[in-house]
Amino acid sequence: MIQATLHQLKVFEATARHGSFTRAAEELFITQPTVSSQIKQLTKSIGLPLFEQIGKRLYLTEAGQELLGTCQGIFEKLDNFEMKVADLKGTKQGQLRLGVITTAKYFIPRILGSFCQQYPGIEVSLQVTNHQQIQRRMLENQDDLYIVSNPPQELDLCTQPFLDNPLVVIALKTHFLAGQRHIPISSLEGEPFIMREQGSGTRQAVQSLLAKHRVSVHVRLELGSNEAIKQAIAGGLGISVLSQHTLISEGIDSELTVLDIEHFPIQRRWYVAYLGGKQLSVITKAFLNYLLEESPKFSVPNLRPLSKSLVNN
Ligand code: PGA
Repeated sequence: MIQATLHQLKVFEATARHGSFTRAAEELFITQPTVSSQIKQLTKSIGLPLFEQIGKRLYLTEAGQELLGTCQGIFEKLDNFEMKVADLKGTKQGQLRLGVITTAKYFIPRILGSFCQQYPGIEVSLQVTNHQQIQRRMLENQDDLYIVSNPPQELDLCTQPFLDNPLVVIALKTHFLAGQRHIPISSLEGEPFIMREQGSGTRQAVQSLLAKHRVSVHVRLELGSNEAIKQAIAGGLGISVLSQHTLISEGIDSELTVLDIEHFPIQRRWYVAYLGGKQLSVITKAFLNYLLEESPKFSVPNLRPLSKSLVNN
C-alpha cells in the first residue's frame, strides 16, 4: 500500500498543474524546499519518478500523469462530500468554478452577484477567456460549468442553450454606412476591420460568414479583447463584428452604432455545458437552475428589422 498523505497529494497536484515547484509553493503558501521535500517523499513511497525536469520546466512522467488523474478524482469527491455535508446541515457552502467565453462577462457577474447573496457561504472562481482556451479547460476538467457559444462537438458534453448571443457589425456613428438600411454584405469588401485574435469563437463565426459570401475585409488590427475593439472603433481604426451584448454598457451618447448589413446579426446562442461524466455538486446544480431562470432578463432587443432610431442613436 502506497503511503501518501493528503497534503503530499495536494502539493503534487499543484506542482503538476503549474509545472513548477516555485509556483506551487506560492499557491499553497509554503516554501519551495517544502514542496521539493514533499514530492521527494511521495516519489520514494511510489517507487517511480513523477516528474522530469527539462530546462526550468517540469514534465509529468507516465506515473505522474496517472497520479494526477487519481488526485483530481479524490479532490473532486472530497469537495462534493464537503458540499453534501454543508447541504445536510442546511447551509449551502462550497466552491463553484466557472469557465466562460469573453462575451458572457456582460451578464454572468450580475447573475453571480445575486446568486451569492442567496448563498453567501460559497466561493466562486470565474475564468473569462476565448473559445479555444475554454476548450482546453474542458479537456483538463478545470471547471464545474462552462458557458460557450459553440460547444465543441468532439467532447462528451451535456449542453443546454439559454440565451441569444447575436453578432452585429459595429462602426462609428459617423461611418458612411451608418443609418443606411439593408446594406449588401459586399459593401464590406476592403473595409478597414478590427478582428478578434486566433482561437476566438467570434472570429471563427465572422470569418466563415465572410468566406461564404466571398467578401474580404482589410484586417488592420487584431485584438484579444471586445472592450479594446470598441475603443479601436471609437478611435477610427475601422469597423468590427462583436456580440450585441458588448453594447449594453454604451450610453445614449455612445460614439458607436450597429450597421444594418445583410446576413447580420449572425444568430448564435449561449450554452451552459458540463463534462459528460461530471458529478455536479449541490452548488453547481443550484447555480445551473438559477442561471436558466435568471438569464432571460439579460436578453438584448432584436435588431431585425433594424429600427431607424437605433441606427441613429
Ligand atoms: P470568443 O467567444 O470570446 O472566443 O470570441 C465569444 C462567443 O463565441 O460569443
